[in-house]
Amino acid sequence: MSFSASTPLLKSALISTDDAFRGRVREIVCPDRGIAPPLEISVPFTELGDGHLKALRDTSPEVIFLDLGAHPATGINLAQFLAEQNPNARLVAAGPALSADVLMAAMRAGVAEYLVKPVGADEMVHAVEATLRRMRGAVAEGPQQPGEILAFFGPKGGSGSTTLATNLAIHIHRLTGKRTLLADLDLELGEAALQLGVDPRFNFADMVRNFHRMDAELLASFIERHHSGVHLLSAPYHPEKAEVVTGDRIAKILNFLRQHYQYVVVDTSNSFSPATLATFEQADRIFLVTQADLQSLRNIKRCAPLLERTVGATPDKVRVVLNRYRANDAIKPEDIEKTLGMKVHWTIANDYEAVVRSVNSGTPIVLNGDSRYAHDVRAMSAEIAGLAGAPAPLGNRFIRAVAEPLLRAIRRSTPPRPEVAV
Ligand SMILES: Nc1ncnc2c1ncn2[C@@H]1O[C@H](COP(=O)(O)OP(=O)(O)OP(=O)(O)O)[C@@H](O)[C@H]1O
Ligand SMILES: [Mg+2]
Repeated sequence: MSFSASTPLLKSALISTDDAFRGRVREIVCPDRGIAPPLEISVPFTELGDGHLKALRDTSPEVIFLDLGAHPATGINLAQFLAEQNPNARLVAAGPALSADVLMAAMRAGVAEYLVKPVGADEMVHAVEATLRRMRGAVAEGPQQPGEILAFFGPKGGSGSTTLATNLAIHIHRLTGKRTLLADLDLELGEAALQLGVDPRFNFADMVRNFHRMDAELLASFIERHHSGVHLLSAPYHPEKAEVVTGDRIAKILNFLRQHYQYVVVDTSNSFSPATLATFEQADRIFLVTQADLQSLRNIKRCAPLLERTVGATPDKVRVVLNRYRANDAIKPEDIEKTLGMKVHWTIANDYEAVVRSVNSGTPIVLNGDSRYAHDVRAMSAEIAGLAGAPAPLGNRFIRAVAEPLLRAIRRSTPPRPEVAV
């Protein structure tokens, strides 16, 4: 694969204490392949300090080569941190042969390619080229076949639908590298833009008005690009703008969008508006985001006949997600299953601390350090993206002792809170 002189070189970083691995990366990573020589960090994880983290921040690498060394669990913590700090970067990790569980944990943390050491030249070339193909492909090409529409609906206000749709879109994109759009179809009071901290110039109503002349180029000018790589089609800021939007038009637009994105994650309002019903009809999966309270369950039961009519012969596409789950809740997942006659597919922890930290830093939860919320969203994303597997237990006491200094340095280096446009 070669690039013209006008293609900007990708920035890269290399973190490894292993001379042979560093040599191998240097040998393969070169401007001819479209990658600038890497920023090299060759100290053990325990000696990574503020200076190294600042250098990484200043470089903002787009490809990161990370040697997990003898302590993969610590390396996976670092991988997760690097992926959060550099949401658009692809991580190529190397280290010992890993069990399936640990490999899955590495992927959930953001690792795109894993190479078992010692890494041969061919394997390195293959990994680098696959990474580049995915990066360039994700930017340049539309999907080969129509993408999936994933709809999120809360049976009452404040169920957590927008928070879940936003974080899930980010993590699915990170896991798969596929083109992912978050479409805010809560047309009256949508808040997806706020969750991503972006100030959209255009919105869904503009899309509707211009649909007769819509093509890939015009679509590209209507969406906002979040630094995680997820694209956003926002709801109108002023609810009266939503009036132009009928169910029929929405169905057509969703079908258009799935020709251009491999995942179209749609957040709906908690009413059965034309937008919500059209989304349900078009969706491949509908996630009912509920909490363990009587009002939510009662509302789900009340809307069941309408849902059944809408999804028709494909009842399996509706999945219940229990949000704000606490093990000591009076209403248990089993009670919900009995009441609704539906399986609770996922539980998302009640995690007030993570939510508040995320709001305060203006950063979506899955990009804002480890938390129970992020853990549950990662597990759900992995399953939706087709990467099944139970969460891997990370670390033991020894590894935690090794990881502690690193985590302290990471906490110290967390950048200041960005301004959020409202
Ligand atoms: N698992 C959770 N733990 C703690 N707080 C949560 C959790 N999920 C959501 N929240 C908080 O609950 C509130 C409502 O969440 P969100 O806006 O995502 O819900 P919604 O269903 O989209 O609401 P709306 O009806 O306004 O559209 C927010 O403050 C959010 O941060
Ligand atoms: Mg919402």
